Amino acid sequence: MNEPVFHPPVTVALTGASGAQYGLRLIEALVAAGHEVWVMVSKAAHLVIETETDTSLPARPERLAQALRERSGAAEGQIRCFGREDWMAPVASGSGAPSAMVICPCSTGTLSAVATGASNNLIERAADVALKERRQLILVPRETPLSAIHLEHMLNLTRLGAVILPAAPGFYHRPTTVDDLVDFIVARILNQLGIEHRLMPRWGE
Ligand SMILES: Cc1cc2nc3c(=O)[nH]c(=O)nc-3n(C[C@H](O)[C@H](O)[C@H](O)COP(=O)(O)O)c2cc1C
Repeated sequence: MNEPVFHPPVTVALTGASGAQYGLRLIEALVAAGHEVWVMVSKAAHLVIETETDTSLPARPERLAQALRERSGAAEGQIRCFGREDWMAPVASGSGAPSAMVICPCSTGTLSAVATGASNNLIERAADVALKERRQLILVPRETPLSAIHLEHMLNLTRLGAVILPAAPGFYHRPTTVDDLVDFIVARILNQLGIEHRLMPRWGE
C-alpha cells in the first residue's frame, strides 16, 4: 500500500505563554491543509494547556503524537513529536529542519532564549537553526504590558528575519466566540506561511 504523501513539514512549538488554543488550532489547521506537522511542547506549555483547555496532553513524544493525531483528525505519520532534549531530532540541524517554524504561543522566556541563541532545549535549538539557516521563523508572543527586555528581543529578532506576530486579535470582523478570536491569529500565521485557508476572509474580500 502506498504511504500517504503530505505537504512539507512545518515545525510548531507550544511554549508556556497564555493562549494554548492558538497553538492547538494551528496544528489542526496545518493538518487540515495536508501538511506534516512536527510538534514540540514545553513543560510549561503542558501546564498552560491543562489550565486553559479541557485537554491534558501526555508528555512522552509518541503518546503526545497519538493524542494530537486523535484531536486533529491527522493521518498516521502526519504528526511527529519531539522531546525537550531529543538532540537527534531533524529540527536540531540545518540539514533536517523544515523550511518553517512557528512558536505559538511564545513565552517571553523562550523569546529571550531565541533572541540570545541559548539553545538550552530542542525548541530553542530548532529556532536557532531556523535563524542561522535563514528559514522562516514566526513567534507568537503573549504578554502585557511589555518590558524593554521583551521589546528589545523582539526588535533584534525582527532584524534577524524572524516575524513577531503578537497574539493580539483584531475585532473588526465582529467576533462572537473565542474560536473567532483564535482563528483570527491562526489565519494570520497561515497567511505568513503562504498556506491557503478559509478560517476568515482576507481584508477586502
Ligand atoms: C497558566 C500560566 C500562564 C502563563 N502565561 C504566560 C504568558 O502569557 N506569557 C508569558 O510569557 N509567560 C506566561 N507564563 C509563564 C511561563 O510559562 C514561564 O515563564 C515558563 O518558564 C516558560 O517556559 P517555556 O518558555 O519553556 O515554555 C504562564 C504560566 C502559566 C502556568
